[in-house]
Amino acid sequence: MDKIIVTGGKPLNGEIVISGAKNACLTLMPAALLTDEPLTLTNAPRLSDIRTMTDLLRSLGCEVAALQAGKVLALGAERIASTRADYEIVRKMRASILVLGPLLAREGHAEVSLPGGCAIGARPVDLHLRGLEALGAELDLRDGYVHAKAPNGLKGAAFELPFASVGATENLLMAATLAKGTTVLKNAAREPEIVDLARCLRAMGARIEGEGSPEITIEGVERLHGATHRVVADRIELGTYMLAPAIAGGRVELIGGERALLGAFCDKLEEADIAVEETGRGLAVSRRNGVIRPLHVVTEPYPGFPTDLQAQMMAMLTLGAGESLLEERIFENRFMHAPELLRMGARIEVHGGTAKVTGVEGLRGAPVMATDLRASVSLILAGLAAEGETTVSRVYHLDRGYERLEDKLQACGAQVERVKG
Ligand code: EPU
Repeated sequence: MDKIIVTGGKPLNGEIVISGAKNACLTLMPAALLTDEPLTLTNAPRLSDIRTMTDLLRSLGCEVAALQAGKVLALGAERIASTRADYEIVRKMRASILVLGPLLAREGHAEVSLPGGCAIGARPVDLHLRGLEALGAELDLRDGYVHAKAPNGLKGAAFELPFASVGATENLLMAATLAKGTTVLKNAAREPEIVDLARCLRAMGARIEGEGSPEITIEGVERLHGATHRVVADRIELGTYMLAPAIAGGRVELIGGERALLGAFCDKLEEADIAVEETGRGLAVSRRNGVIRPLHVVTEPYPGFPTDLQAQMMAMLTLGAGESLLEERIFENRFMHAPELLRMGARIEVHGGTAKVTGVEGLRGAPVMATDLRASVSLILAGLAAEGETTVSRVYHLDRGYERLEDKLQACGAQVERVKG
């Protein structure tokens, strides 16, 4: 297994180009199942999760060609060959559940393996299922699979999500495009990835209004057609690299970064005395006066502070001038980076969903282990500031969500090497 070795203590200076969003691409790809015409996605990130979704779609009969070294994905589901999403693929990636809505809407039935729990929490899919039932689907859970059918097609309905789940909103939004009549999703998720999906679906002929607000209205249409769509910038990759100069010093410009994607996060950085400038090409980040002010951070659905940046923010706050509090409100077990950061000299106490971080003068390099995607990148960030060498093992977690991480950081002067294992 590959490892990444970070030799810390060097300020970062330079620019990093932000890739297309993993979590947008993972919902845009299954949208190809809704039409027999081609869907082309540009600005796709080159990540192992995208390859997993490619495998899943191919297993359903959807053609997927990776063009321009994988930056363009040409998808075509002229014919659906299978409506069964097999456990062997679904277990690798929870986003596989996003084929359920499109398959059901197009074919009238689908059999999708239930994704199990995962390291960061139990993560059930009950809201996806309740929403599809509201659209008239009949569901049966057996042998670890959801057997869904809608023999006479899905029917538009009003459905209020008890929690603004990103994945459930995406599944329902896709399913409703081909349902008969009007669907109103209330308390819908508002993440930029939802807005991106709605834009793509609209380019495919869907009739959607209100994306980005808590109420989305979808007028079902007979059929959708092909389209070309550019994947929105990855706000989590953006936030992660914004923290690199904040933690290690220097100034880095994030090309393609937009403040609107990460308002609450940028506000928190500024509160910590980190400068965030809009440059016209993106965002530039540097420390204002050398001190990181402590923060109180609460993760929330968009437009709140994203859970996917909590681990990285914690890495920065380990060097804060005082005591910070991080409250994780989205996932019940998302502090697995804390014990690893302790091994690097951080002071962190976790009580349930809250972590108290007391800033220390400096971190020291150590061998550490990645437990999930965002936890692993927080260890790389901590390594950039630590004295000596940090070796991060199990980097396959990183490869799920960060394209060419070591190249991007090296271009800013960081000493980050991958050792093939
Ligand atoms: N939840 C339920 N029932 C459901 C759906 C969700 O209880 O039917 C709970 C989950 O267990 C969790 C909370 O609701 O505690 C939030 O889940 P949500 O459905 O909003 O998240 P998701 O769609 O499973 C996406 C991202 C995650 C990101 C979350 C929150 C993708 C592929 N994944 O997951 O990204 O953390 O939204 O913003 O879009 C990552 O990239 O590292 C990652 C984990």
